[in-house]
Amino acid sequence: MAITSLEEKTAFITGGAKGIGLGIARALVAKGSNVMIADIDEGALNSAVQELGGKADAVICDVADPAAVKAAADKTIERFGKVHILVNNAGVGGGGKPGETTLEDWRWVVDINLMGVVYGVEIFVPLIKSHGEGGYIINTASLAGHAVGAGTGGPYNATKFAVVGYSETLRAQLAKHNIGCSALCPAWVDTEIHKSGFRAPSSAGLDVKAAMQSPRFQQMDAVLKSGISPNLVGEWAVDCMLANRMHIFTHPQFAPGIEERMNEVRADYQACADDPRFSE
Ligand SMILES: NC(=O)c1ccc[n+]([C@@H]2O[C@H](COP(=O)([O-])OP(=O)(O)OC[C@H]3O[C@@H](n4cnc5c(N)ncnc54)[C@H](O)[C@@H]3O)[C@@H](O)[C@H]2O)c1
Repeated sequence: MAITSLEEKTAFITGGAKGIGLGIARALVAKGSNVMIADIDEGALNSAVQELGGKADAVICDVADPAAVKAAADKTIERFGKVHILVNNAGVGGGGKPGETTLEDWRWVVDINLMGVVYGVEIFVPLIKSHGEGGYIINTASLAGHAVGAGTGGPYNATKFAVVGYSETLRAQLAKHNIGCSALCPAWVDTEIHKSGFRAPSSAGLDVKAAMQSPRFQQMDAVLKSGISPNLVGEWAVDCMLANRMHIFTHPQFAPGIEERMNEVRADYQACADDPRFSE
């Protein structure tokens, strides 16, 4: 079992200043862990660390910059001595329709949502292995990493599917080092993720106030506000880490969407199996 107790463990959480990352930080601190929260939002980091108290510290870190992730890892070791839990949670929405999305926007989403996870793993896994006490990685993917169609775009869905596949690989490859891995796969959670697109390269110079009045933004705002609480997601993610679950789902009502995708995979696989060109 990779992690059985959280007392005196240390977690590093990206995107930990707000939303789901802060929900996970709260849940870990409540169970006795130290947390280092890493984020690009300095103001939110300061208020989060104040709220979390003496077991928490903060570091400014853009997960799309491997040097910044390395510096944040060094700061974590300096502050807490060891690190056991890595939560690769920072992520952005964004990306438009096929044929209408700039390559700069694509790269921006991939650099944060996928490469940010990769940098976290490559930099922190050696640190977790080094103390031999075991550890855990939670990668925040999305339900959009299992089934598409909820209104999120190509770059987002592609990176979230990638994070699910990567997490399954990490789980298989790191088990022998007593390091577990889960993919956190929520649907709508009441956070500010819909504002992240305002930082996309194609949004440079955008009138954000006006954009927030647009019907598209207002619709997404209403959907997210109807979502579940990031604190509930944080508590459940920690419970599922302790139970060593591969997939951390938070919205049972969307099970039929996953079933539909699995049925399509089964049927298409069967079509291949039924074709004489593929039989022995
Ligand atoms: N809110 C939802 O409905 C929902 C659903 C499924 C998955 N998710 C995923 O949950 C994760 C957290 O999102 P959230 O909903 O809490 O959104 P949020 O915007 O409220 O929080 C994300 C945090 O990440 C930080 N961040 C953004 N880019 C960063 C970067 N380059 N480096 C470091 N920090 C960065 C932000 O400053 C913010 O504090 C994301 O990976 C998102 O894709 C969210």
